Amino acid sequence: MYGLRERQRARPVDVIPPGEFAADVSVSRLKEEDIPQYLQVLTTAIKDIPGMSAEEKQLAVESKTAASYREKLRDPEAFLFVAKKGGTVVGILEGKLAHYPDAPDEYKTMGYTAWTGVAKEHRQYGVATSLKAAYEATCRSRGITYMQSFIKDANTPSIITNTRMGYRPDSHFPARNNGKYYTKKIR
Ligand SMILES: CC(C)(COP(=O)(O)OP(=O)(O)OC[C@H]1O[C@@H](n2cnc3c(N)ncnc32)[C@H](O)[C@@H]1OP(=O)(O)O)[C@@H](O)C(=O)NCCC(=O)NCCS
Repeated sequence: MYGLRERQRARPVDVIPPGEFAADVSVSRLKEEDIPQYLQVLTTAIKDIPGMSAEEKQLAVESKTAASYREKLRDPEAFLFVAKKGGTVVGILEGKLAHYPDAPDEYKTMGYTAWTGVAKEHRQYGVATSLKAAYEATCRSRGITYMQSFIKDANTPSIITNTRMGYRPDSHFPARNNGKYYTKKIR
């Protein structure tokens, strides 16, 4: 039987079937018809992020419009995933490529997780792990070596989730705004 890390390494596709990490939850790329549910989960989850000020949350929520996501669906450097249970979106992940032109080769392009959010009643069942595993698989298949997340020091659920998947604070990237950059080598 494969352990979690081995399954993450072995999977060549960007779709995670139900039961792989979370019972009855499948992960796939966002489609236009799911944008309203995607926004509902994302904007609700943003309000629960520890360490973000009320103003930061307000600004973030206001920037999340259906039109901006229809545009992102056409952006080859945007990676938008939904986790669904019985046809309903219960979790979302938004990734984008981060470019560091002056960095050593394997750090030049990283798979950056901009947002992860899981509906409150579906937390701690492996939904975020499924979403991040799908994003990592996509990045790996595109030849990317490192993943990156920025996590507020007060966001214990996110720190636990990322740490369980092998992300570690990375001192190559200076801490800022009460948070740190975490990275993970995926290939
Ligand atoms: C952070 C967040 C996305 C995690 O989603 P999730 O689906 O609950 O995460 P998972 O179930 O995949 O958790 C992975 C591991 O972390 C553990 N974990 C997650 N949240 C935890 C918590 N609050 N307390 C203790 N352990 C926790 C899980 O139990 C699991 O451990 P395991 O591997 O031993 O089973 C979710 O809490 C959330 O949406 N928070 C609000 C938005 C946010 O902060 N997003 C991140 C910044 S953009």
